[in-house]
Amino acid sequence: MVNVNFKPSKEYVEKAFAAFDVLEGRKGRGNDFLGWMDLPSDTPASIVDGCCAIADEWRQKGVEVAVVIGIGGSYLGAKAALAALSHSFGMERRGIEVVFAGFNLSEEYHAELLDYISGKSVAVIVISKSGTTTEPAVAFRIIKEHVEGKYGKAEAASRIVAVTDKARGALKSLSDQEGYRTFVIPDDVGGRFSVLTPVGLLPIAVAGYDIRALLRGAASMQRICAERDARNPALLYAAARNELYDSGKKVEILVSYNPKLQYFGEWWKQLYGESEGKEGRGIFPASVNFTTDLHSMGQYIQEGERMLFETVISVEHAGRELTVCDDPQNLDGLNFLSGKHLEHCNRMAETGTRLAHEDGGVPNGRVTVERIDEFNLGELFFLFEKACGISAYMLGVNPFDQPGVEAYKKNMFALLGKPGYEAQAEAIRERLR
Ligand code: PA5
Repeated sequence: MVNVNFKPSKEYVEKAFAAFDVLEGRKGRGNDFLGWMDLPSDTPASIVDGCCAIADEWRQKGVEVAVVIGIGGSYLGAKAALAALSHSFGMERRGIEVVFAGFNLSEEYHAELLDYISGKSVAVIVISKSGTTTEPAVAFRIIKEHVEGKYGKAEAASRIVAVTDKARGALKSLSDQEGYRTFVIPDDVGGRFSVLTPVGLLPIAVAGYDIRALLRGAASMQRICAERDARNPALLYAAARNELYDSGKKVEILVSYNPKLQYFGEWWKQLYGESEGKEGRGIFPASVNFTTDLHSMGQYIQEGERMLFETVISVEHAGRELTVCDDPQNLDGLNFLSGKHLEHCNRMAETGTRLAHEDGGVPNGRVTVERIDEFNLGELFFLFEKACGISAYMLGVNPFDQPGVEAYKKNMFALLGKPGYEAQAEAIRERLR
């Protein structure tokens, strides 16, 4: 069960109610992209069964590694969930090992990925809503060639599944032509809100985790966050962060004390950065892992420019138990910790840091999570999505577009010589002279 402790003023709770009404009434900007609001309760069993069937089939076939190809919203949700649920050192695997590709253009990364998969039984999940994004398309070319070279076209086709638009885009056409099985990303669900579609569900199922529990958690939060109630956690979080923003706190740091949540921070950064950072406005989303980053970013947070606030994801129960052992010599002077659980020390670090940062002018809010499992992750994903919709409407922007992402693509295409970009290429050459 996920809880929050934000205490916004009455004025901002009222503002959040107004934004909540716009979102719930489906009257705001970008309201043709609200399909994510219904996903937890409305996802058909056939989609969940379909994801689990692919996972079973590939397991039976002896697939050792599934390469998930995607970028932005087409990989971060699955990456966040798998990093949170998996053993930190790759042990105790429940399903097939999942590795990611196509979220950068690094030659070294993809060459090393080929090294890694070359002796293994491989399957591929290629994910792109538009079906035209350069990074995953380039990676898919490379991995497809590898898989076809290894198994032949027919067997390769049984090892490749595409998750894409139902009708449009190059990936859909390619899948139809090559006979790949496909899952659909609904038209009304944008990339960064798509973790509860097959974009997230298929890789998570293939890795052996319980996607039904994930959806149950999300559905439980969907019910809680649909309440027009001043205790609604999404409303409180949206209200608190907008109040802080208006008071000059322009940067929000998502903090966790468990390295398993590092990629949850990456998912959250995309969700809020891409949804709110527009029209010259928006809280800058950052993330840290404590206590690790207390030894790198701690100084700035404690004493640097006072434009920061923190949202801490606090996990109540650790998944494992380990105590500090006694040392008769006590040369390090740590026997006062003997017999104490490491998680107790972590918790004391969390409380001490919260107080220190509050004293240093960094307001702290907390999202408490019972434990890291599929149900709680489902709750967290939905909570932050719902709060994002409310928060962006409070800010006065359209949460569901990302016009700024196109700027780098146009320059890159011009520089790479894509047909149709000749004039832009000439202008860039002039600028670089
Ligand atoms: O949230 C978004 O819309 C983006 O981050 C996309 O997910 C990302 O650009 C990848 O797009 P696509 O799935 O079309 O390849």
